[in-house]
Amino acid sequence: MNYFLGIDLGTSSIKAVLYDENFKSIAVSTRDYELIQIKNGWSEQRPEDWIQSINSILKELKNNYSTELKKLVSIGLTGQMHGLVMLDEDNNILRPAILWNDQRTEEEINDINRILGKEKIIEITANPALTGFTLAKILWVQKNEPEIFEKCKHILLPKDYLRFYLSGDYATDVSDASGMQLLDVPGRKWSEKICNTFNIDMDMLPKLYESVESTGYLKEELCSELGINHRVVIAAGAGDNAAAAIGCGVVQDGETFATLGTSGVVFTQSDNIKMDAKGRIHTFCSAVPNTWHVMGVTQAAGLSINWFKDNFYKDIGDNEIYEKIENDINESKIGSNNLIYLPYLMGERTPHLDPNIRGSFIGLSGIHKRKDLMRAVIEGITFSLRDCISIIREIGLKIDNIYLTGGGANNKTWIQMIADNFNCTIEKMQEGGGTTLGAAMLSSIACGKYNDLKEISDKFIFYDKKYIPNETSTDEYSKYYKVYKKLYPALKDINKELIEL
Ligand code: XUL
Repeated sequence: MNYFLGIDLGTSSIKAVLYDENFKSIAVSTRDYELIQIKNGWSEQRPEDWIQSINSILKELKNNYSTELKKLVSIGLTGQMHGLVMLDEDNNILRPAILWNDQRTEEEINDINRILGKEKIIEITANPALTGFTLAKILWVQKNEPEIFEKCKHILLPKDYLRFYLSGDYATDVSDASGMQLLDVPGRKWSEKICNTFNIDMDMLPKLYESVESTGYLKEELCSELGINHRVVIAAGAGDNAAAAIGCGVVQDGETFATLGTSGVVFTQSDNIKMDAKGRIHTFCSAVPNTWHVMGVTQAAGLSINWFKDNFYKDIGDNEIYEKIENDINESKIGSNNLIYLPYLMGERTPHLDPNIRGSFIGLSGIHKRKDLMRAVIEGITFSLRDCISIIREIGLKIDNIYLTGGGANNKTWIQMIADNFNCTIEKMQEGGGTTLGAAMLSSIACGKYNDLKEISDKFIFYDKKYIPNETSTDEYSKYYKVYKKLYPALKDINKELIEL
């Protein structure tokens, strides 16, 4: 029996899962680390903390699974996208990594649009200039910390810094690179035009690979520490959503999955590159070679639920809370007794691309109970995800079934709500799907154990129950969605005025 290791370098923790060759999970190990927010809207992490965490995980695996580790053949990497890691010529870390959810770069976005032009940036990178993407972060360092930029010799994404630690290679994959805004996304190569325009030496960029390719091998000293006496392939891997797609079996044209995690994502796989001319959704390379995907993001999905639960469900114990929430929303009704929630606690990406918008409850009256507010929160997140799927359909992709994953997929009422709003069937993933499974699957191709993503996903990925939309509920939700759509334009300026006070 061979084994694969999937590693997901997330925003709050790193998770490694050891799989056997039938992709059965054998061991799971996670370590949390700190998110550093020294100013409002800033978000950083110390790459040193990631390395300390992976070392501690590897040690744990060695102590408990040394027999399996001896037969480890490959490692697949995935993780948070867009983050900026800068190294000097001796590979010293020059500053903390600036993460995907850091919003300090509004000025740099204006610079990119002014210098290159809004249309040109979409034409080359398939996406509008966004505060979360890596280019804006590089420009921020150029402008605000020139002495650091001067010393910078290597720019890496978070999971690729981990790769550098594990193998000594400066490499990345096309799906994660798509979120740097330095990639010619249609051509799957670094953009000379962007690098030249913004004085970024192309030698600083890692070597590009398709996700299923091998970028090198686990360093000898790490192999011997782990008791391994053969070469272990490191696969290029993928950004977290592209890896989750593989782990959900989304590998063919038109296949779609949605995640109900801290943020919410709707992701559709496509053989051809599709873009939204208004830039409301992201277009990135997929982990399936020579294909792409479009992706809509609701910034505060699970985050909205956590915020509401932490403030208004303090009387309920941790073990009962999710059951209580599901009972409560069932006791309210469609439309939450004429109450709408806008889930913009963290600004919004799809469809508004507005870091300054904030959340609201609209229609609040004396009749409303906690259960109505809770239902409104969940309906509001669902309406935001409905915005994502509407744009994906609008640009010509047909979606009639969605695979669902993430913590929220344990709430059956919410899954039915999503089926009714998306007007398509929803298949819930069996436990265990997702990012680390996707990364391990990519590595199983990179090391030559398997040849075809479709074949392994048909064989090893399983779905739970299927939910069918209810026509009457679909019609009823549509009445509230129509009102929801009118709220962002009405509240945009008022919100800005308020947060600027
Ligand atoms: C994708 C994105 C997030 C991060 C963190 O565009 O910003 O998925 O990768 O999970």
